Amino acid sequence: MIRIVQETGSTNADLAARLAGGEYLPEGEWLVADRQVAGKGRLGRVWNDGAGNFMGSTVIRPAAGDPSPATLALMTGLAVYEALVGFLPRQSDLRLKWPNDLLLNDAKVAGILLEAANGVVIAGIGVNLHSAPDIPGRKVVALSDLGVEIGRDGFAQALTVSFDLELQRWRTAGLAPLLRRWQSAAHPLGTRLTVLPPGEEALEGRFAGLSQEGNLLLALDDGSQRTIHAGDVMLASA
Ligand code: BTN
Repeated sequence: MIRIVQETGSTNADLAARLAGGEYLPEGEWLVADRQVAGKGRLGRVWNDGAGNFMGSTVIRPAAGDPSPATLALMTGLAVYEALVGFLPRQSDLRLKWPNDLLLNDAKVAGILLEAANGVVIAGIGVNLHSAPDIPGRKVVALSDLGVEIGRDGFAQALTVSFDLELQRWRTAGLAPLLRRWQSAAHPLGTRLTVLPPGEEALEGRFAGLSQEGNLLLALDDGSQRTIHAGDVMLASA
């Protein structure tokens, strides 16, 4: 079910507050806002937005036997990718960037914020359908900048379908097919990346794929390889 509110602080914070208040939120329940005024991005950034963009959150209830919740970042990215790609002209350059950014022509077109709350995971998704929120130091793009007009409600329908499908696949098919599909939607192997692991200096290297657990493999220029478990990743040229 999709519930739409006109304006809120943050759809992620709203679901967290409802969970904290004891409400049971089943998987498949979405909260979508027309406008967000205290929206949260990754790494403490702000994601305030409005004007026809998609801003929505849902819950995932990890259960015994599920793959590691850490891999939900990849699963959610793939769900957004699948929803978006269906609206884009065939030659469009839509790519996943680890852990869960979506870039169109190497500019950020969507962002995902996963947060743990009351034993569930809140998945918050923002997609620049009509305008791109300012993110210092990042190239951003909206689909309408490229002449692609996607209505928010049509996109929401497509996303809920792809999200359900990818969540079921994540549960039943295991990680290997998810990692394969994620990687084929990402930048090619060898793409130069700058990585900021928390509390460390920036690393430069080349995209060397994903580990079996879904971590980022970075081939450093000295010939060694680093496994990145967390951090901010940028295209080196961006
Ligand atoms: C990022 O920094 O890339 C993640 C951005 C996530 C934004 C979405 S918009 C809907 C949901 N509610 C929030 O407060 N944030 C997420």
